[in-house]
Amino acid sequence: MTFEVYVHVPFCLRRCGYCDFNTYTASDLGGGASRGNYASMAVREMRLVRDWQLAHGISEPAASSVFFGGGTPTILPADDLATMLQAIRDIWGVENGAEITTEANPDTVDRAYISSLADHGFTRISFGMQSVVPHVLRTLDRTHTQRNVETGVRAADEMGLRSSVDLIYGTPGEAPDDWRRSVNGALDLGVRHVSAYALTVASRTAMGRRIAAGALARPDDDDEAEKYEIADSAFSAAGLQWYEISNWARPGFESRHNLGYWHNVDWAGIGPGAHSHYSRTPGNPSRLRSWDILHPRLWGRSVTEGRVPWQGTEHVTDRQNIEETVMLGMRLREGLDLSLLPALHPDSRGIDVLRELNDDGLVSVTGNRIIATVRGRLLNDTIIQRLFEALDV
Ligand SMILES: C[S@@+](CC[C@H](N)C(=O)[O-])C[C@H]1O[C@@H](n2cnc3c(N)ncnc32)[C@H](O)[C@@H]1O
Ligand code: SF4
Repeated sequence: MTFEVYVHVPFCLRRCGYCDFNTYTASDLGGGASRGNYASMAVREMRLVRDWQLAHGISEPAASSVFFGGGTPTILPADDLATMLQAIRDIWGVENGAEITTEANPDTVDRAYISSLADHGFTRISFGMQSVVPHVLRTLDRTHTQRNVETGVRAADEMGLRSSVDLIYGTPGEAPDDWRRSVNGALDLGVRHVSAYALTVASRTAMGRRIAAGALARPDDDDEAEKYEIADSAFSAAGLQWYEISNWARPGFESRHNLGYWHNVDWAGIGPGAHSHYSRTPGNPSRLRSWDILHPRLWGRSVTEGRVPWQGTEHVTDRQNIEETVMLGMRLREGLDLSLLPALHPDSRGIDVLRELNDDGLVSVTGNRIIATVRGRLLNDTIIQRLFEALDV
């Protein structure tokens, strides 16, 4: 079994109006939780999780990847990230050649910071670029410029780190040409990995409230579909293949960490709100998931009192297992392996549904695998809904 470690860093300098991640600014946090002691608290959680694993007969191999996500991990001094990474090496071990990534807001890192990451063994940085267009960045409340992204990617290149950039499409007021500029801006950086996400708007965010009040236009499905196709054709023309609905890479530059999640490997998630996953625990063949307490203060109290800071756990049911297999398979270029789905196999209604999806141009069937077409990637929810209805579980 492969094992990965995710560390969530739940802090941002300022909250972007569209963002619904578990992250806090200094004024949100209040007393009792701080950035200053975060690394040491996270290391304490790692030890508690390791003790829990041992007590439950779970013995994991060295981690094949480590990912620091947020929030803004690079709001912390590089030495704090290094302290947490060293603890992971000491507690679980990290494979030689492992992928070690941090997310970075482009205006929180400079050459010295990136050089320090390289010295400590980081191999990859994922920059939150979002757009090159100033009015789009403003609507998204972003504080960085494209110059920050260029400086970061160049420094990462010089220091031997791989770079990826995140983009967002569908921002209110973004014209198709604005989006083309952002896609080309990402390609001009020479990065070999890009993630592009359709803007999602949660009603409880500042942007959600502005949209509800009519102050901003609501993202439009047709506009987002057009932008997805613009991105997919530009990235593939530049040699970056899609390997997951929102991710494109030159072959060999895919994110190993994310592929691990999609292949249901084991991972320990550390930090407020982080999820963990164990494919089997002795005596129970079904997969186990846990999720950490969301608020840093309550999370910190649990860690300080020596309790694994989990809000909850669940064993995945057979139905959930099959549904997740369908959802994951339909997001990946490698597609859905039908032999994993006896409930869809042959002579049931499932085969009719597959034929219909194929006739509608949403999937192609190659041997034992069904793979979403570009149109299918755009209508992924429809495919999944129709497959779920055909499941016999
Ligand atoms: C967890 S965030 C952290 C990255 C980093 N803090 C930053 O913003 O630069 C990772 C990525 O999720 C994407 N994201 C966050 N909120 C989103 C939303 N509401 N809709 C679409 N993408 C979103 C952004 O592209 C962001 O770079
Ligand atoms: S998008 Fe990134 S920087 Fe903005 S609030 Fe969310 S985690 Fe923080």
